[in-house]
Amino acid sequence: MSRILFCLDGNRALSDALLKHSQMHADPLLEGLLELRRFPDGETYLRVHRDVSGDEVFILCSLSPADSLIMPLVLLCETVREMGAKRICLVAPYLGYMRQDKQFNPGEAVSSRHFAKLLSGYIDHLITVDPHLHRYNSLDEIYRVPSQVLHAEPLLAAWISQNVATPILIGPDSESEQWVSGVAALAGAPFIVLEKQRQGDREVSVSVPNIAMLAGRVPILLDDIISSGHTMLETVAHLRSLQSEAPVCIGVHGIFAEEADRKLERAGVYRLVTTNSLPHASNQICLAELLLRAINSVG
Ligand code: R5P
Repeated sequence: MSRILFCLDGNRALSDALLKHSQMHADPLLEGLLELRRFPDGETYLRVHRDVSGDEVFILCSLSPADSLIMPLVLLCETVREMGAKRICLVAPYLGYMRQDKQFNPGEAVSSRHFAKLLSGYIDHLITVDPHLHRYNSLDEIYRVPSQVLHAEPLLAAWISQNVATPILIGPDSESEQWVSGVAALAGAPFIVLEKQRQGDREVSVSVPNIAMLAGRVPILLDDIISSGHTMLETVAHLRSLQSEAPVCIGVHGIFAEEADRKLERAGVYRLVTTNSLPHASNQICLAELLLRAINSVG
């Protein structure tokens, strides 16, 4: 039996790092070759160029944009299953569709639940990093397969310790406290958690931080996801109006929809930092070793 890694989301930097680090282990991951393209009508063509019969298959696929990745993922799972793969483990550093975790209005789809049900029908195991667990305590509440939830906190804290001498961490909302408090403790830095009200997909208001706490410190905004960027933009605007030092923005997962990265740079962000869960110029923190430890423990 071999362990085969397919890279489905095009994140070659992370896939190559996983393959490289895995060479140091007794049972290294082998690269699974995949042909993936669109037919002229937009439908997905997928072909697996490797015998996976009896093998353990790992599929690297961060789920953003989830809608365009789910079909290739379903096709890959079905194909390797038919080819005789022994087990299918989805390695989704970013797990999409976690934020709609409640019906806010009658008739709304609770998409986190429906997406989890769909995925659970195709995979045997899930590995992910800091999923957006807000109203759910655990992925087990919605996923029907075993999962491993990994935390990037030590990696974020190490980056801060190596790059910022006098940081103060700022979480833009109560949901971010779980990450901000942990990273602050590891980095030996103070932290503040603000309050956020969301009025719409792109409309948020965030409370103003206490100016006294910012004196002589570099503000580091920290959140799990940077999507439209408006949560960060609101907070950055407050900090700039308080004439703080230019802030650093750290997101575990940088989606940067609608050019959020450019908007943040224009707003006066000094550095934009993310993990490589999703490929972006801001990727400064590599998840490969963290993921590999989890991959090696599957069995
Ligand atoms: C939700 O509360 C998350 O923790 C993030 O704060 C949110 O996803 C950020 O979204 P956006 O960048 O669109 O404001």
